[in-house]
Amino acid sequence: MKSLCLVFVFAIFLQCESKQFSRCELVHQLRSHGFPEDKMRDWVCLVESESSRTTHYIGKVNRNGSRDYGLFQINDKYWCSNTSTAGKDCNVTCNDLVTDDITKAAKCAKKVYKRHGFNAWYGWKNKCQGSLPDISSC
Ligand SMILES: *[C@@H]1O[C@H](CO)[C@@H](O)[C@H](O)[C@H]1NC(C)=O
Ligand SMILES: *[C@@H]1O[C@H](CO)[C@@H](O)[C@H](O)[C@H]1NC(C)=O
Ligand SMILES: *[C@@H]1O[C@H](CO)[C@@H](O)[C@H](O)[C@H]1NC(C)=O
Repeated sequence: MKSLCLVFVFAIFLQCESKQFSRCELVHQLRSHGFPEDKMRDWVCLVESESSRTTHYIGKVNRNGSRDYGLFQINDKYWCSNTSTAGKDCNVTCNDLVTDDITKAAKCAKKVYKRHGFNAWYGWKNKCQGSLPDISSC
């Protein structure tokens, strides 16, 4: 019972540790990782609808058994390896995609985009084809 409680406390602690960017923090992160200015609002919209700008967010298991990881909710079927060794098309582990340093996630998201465009993300398809977030103050 005691150890179960400890696990709970630790889980809550981890939750608190996960980083949620403000909208402008996200814009600055994306800029520093070379995302183009003319698509910035689409990327911000995508990240907001996929992960609410939370770096450690891991989606629940999809119907087909795959899972989505991190800020960009990248799928483990093709892109990241859910074992401890790097692999699949982004040559990363899925754990690499849920860190506060978004270098690997950014690189992988660009790869997904290069292959499929924004249509790879349901979050973008469903929510980002009308009005886009205002980032004029960032
Ligand atoms: C599995 O489902 C997710 C979410 O519905 C989707 O993004 C992904 O492309 C699917 N993978 C396959 C192989 O069907
Ligand atoms: C890793 O992903 C594959 C493919 O989506 C899935 O079949 C497998 O159960 C996953 N393994 C773990 C440990 O989540
Ligand atoms: C994949 O990543 C691993 C570890 O980060 C690295 O050692 C390896 O060279 C990479 N492989 C390719 C093909 O980029």
